[in-house]
Amino acid sequence: MILSIDQGTTGTTAVVFDSSGHLLGRSYSEIPNYYPQPGWVEQDAEEIWSVTLRVCAAALQRAGIRVSDITAVGITNQRETTILWDRYTGEPVFPAIVWQCRRSAEVCRELAELGRSDWLRERSGLLLDAYFSASKLAWLFRHNPDLLTRARNGDLCFGTVDSWLIWKMSGGKAHLTDHTNASRTLLYNLNDRAWDKELLTLFQCPESILPQILPSAGYFTDTDPHAFLGTAVPICGVAGDQQAALFGQGCTEPGSIKNTYGTGCFMLAFAGEERPELPQGLLATAACDAQGNPAYAVEGSVFTAGSAIQWLRDEMGMIQRAVDTEIIAQSIPHTRGVYLVPAFNGLGAPHWDSSARGTICGLSRGAGRAEIVRATLESIAYQSDELARLMEQALGLPITHMRVDGGACANNFLMQFQADISSLRIERPGQIESTAIGAALLAGIGSGVWQPQGLPECLQQIERDFMPAMPIAERQQLLTGWRRAVKACRTF
Ligand code: G3P
Repeated sequence: MILSIDQGTTGTTAVVFDSSGHLLGRSYSEIPNYYPQPGWVEQDAEEIWSVTLRVCAAALQRAGIRVSDITAVGITNQRETTILWDRYTGEPVFPAIVWQCRRSAEVCRELAELGRSDWLRERSGLLLDAYFSASKLAWLFRHNPDLLTRARNGDLCFGTVDSWLIWKMSGGKAHLTDHTNASRTLLYNLNDRAWDKELLTLFQCPESILPQILPSAGYFTDTDPHAFLGTAVPICGVAGDQQAALFGQGCTEPGSIKNTYGTGCFMLAFAGEERPELPQGLLATAACDAQGNPAYAVEGSVFTAGSAIQWLRDEMGMIQRAVDTEIIAQSIPHTRGVYLVPAFNGLGAPHWDSSARGTICGLSRGAGRAEIVRATLESIAYQSDELARLMEQALGLPITHMRVDGGACANNFLMQFQADISSLRIERPGQIESTAIGAALLAGIGSGVWQPQGLPECLQQIERDFMPAMPIAERQQLLTGWRRAVKACRTF
């Protein structure tokens, strides 16, 4: 049996699969995000760990098995989120700076003025944006000189959430990451597939704080029985959540695409063994080939998707549960011209505008809760549509269909609207937790439970197709309104 851990921005899921790919037990718990200033997002690394431990124990209990029945553990995680901890005590020295956090936008602006953007894109495949880990580290060291001294003395460890969990699960024995997570730090050379000394210098990041990089499928380390549920088990699969979902959806043929509707939306197209050429606005990133070895993907990232639904629930009090949005949206025929652009933490692809902030426009006296709820769901589809158009440019052909996964893809209204607004066939699998599935498959391959050619088919089967049905004129009119709304919240 395989235990798969999916540590996301909104919460942690643990799933137990048997060797036929059947789900035996699952547990989920939300984790708190903290917003100390506008545009800032933090988490407590110890909270991430304690919630993860708890859901793992609960998933095993629901599966009716002990940890000694587990052959291998797979880990997948929110990427870019930056954690710095003391190598000797294992204690975090600062709150985790979440990928959505914009506090390092100024660091990025300064480096852009030095004219380093193209050079940086060539080496890393990424853009000079506060989204990635390097500028968050630079911000930390700039505002806490003491931390820089400790880092230079070799006293600190840096990691994205995968490294942090591996460290905790191994009882502080292993400081590791994989290529997919490393490729999101802006410190990794995508051509050499290794940490890049010049990028480290640019961001003033001491090399000693970095974890060792390993392929996503293969042996990482054993868990420490004292730290993790009483028995040593090997960790054999690690990948960033979007690359794990790409693998979990079986997208290992060049050009195959998935879109994950999580906290944000992330559209990835598998590119193969060659690093792809990209149109402006998209990213090149490390991915896994069919064997779990390093390969490349093209990515478009939207910063706010599912978290806008959470905002409707937690800040606006407009809904009690995320699932209610489907019925509310379907209760009206349209939004009466209301658009909501959830640029709470700036805008990602294709705009890359750190300073943009959310807006609601088109309000008339008759617009109410249902219109705003529906406009929020529609905003997720509009943003994904912008990614799809960029992907078409990158691939050089029209996209006709797309696989979807992630929590919000359970929303039938959203999926039908996506099919309509993008004029695409949307393919939804029966198991929409492709991220956890991907980590399980990598761990299964890494431990020899599964062969790459013999993965359990039940994990990737399509359950429902959504076909486009909206008249072209209506689609064009809606898209024009969306572009106008985006313009209203842009800062350049
Ligand atoms: O790049 C950020 C991404 O990895 C976060 O994923 O699932 O928490 O939205 P998620």
